[in-house]
Amino acid sequence: MAMAQDVNPALMAKLPMTFKKMGMGVHQSFDDLAVKVPSLNQKQILTEVDRIMTTCVACHETFKIVESK
Ligand code: HEC
Repeated sequence: MAMAQDVNPALMAKLPMTFKKMGMGVHQSFDDLAVKVPSLNQKQILTEVDRIMTTCVACHETFKIVESK
């Protein structure tokens, strides 16, 4: 989440809300996973990463950056 704070405010203002929610959700999920990792086994960690990555796929399916002319 700390990394996400550095995003340019001008860019942030232009991004759609669903995009920001998905993006922040992924940052938060990885932060949560980082806290839980010591108490999980390898299979549980992979299951969690798999779950988080469904958001990566969902966002890529929904949004595309197109250069304005
Ligand atoms: C909030 C939406 C969002 C989420 C969540 C997201 N991405 Fe992306 N990602 C994008 C966008 C937008 C691009 C730029 C795609 C384009 O070319 O238009 C991108 C591009 C990428 C690229 C570069 C692809 C290329 O062609 O160069 C990679 C690699 C990538 N994402 C990986 C991930 C991974 C791994 C995750 C999950 C941990 C993730 N992304 C989560 C929105 C997202």
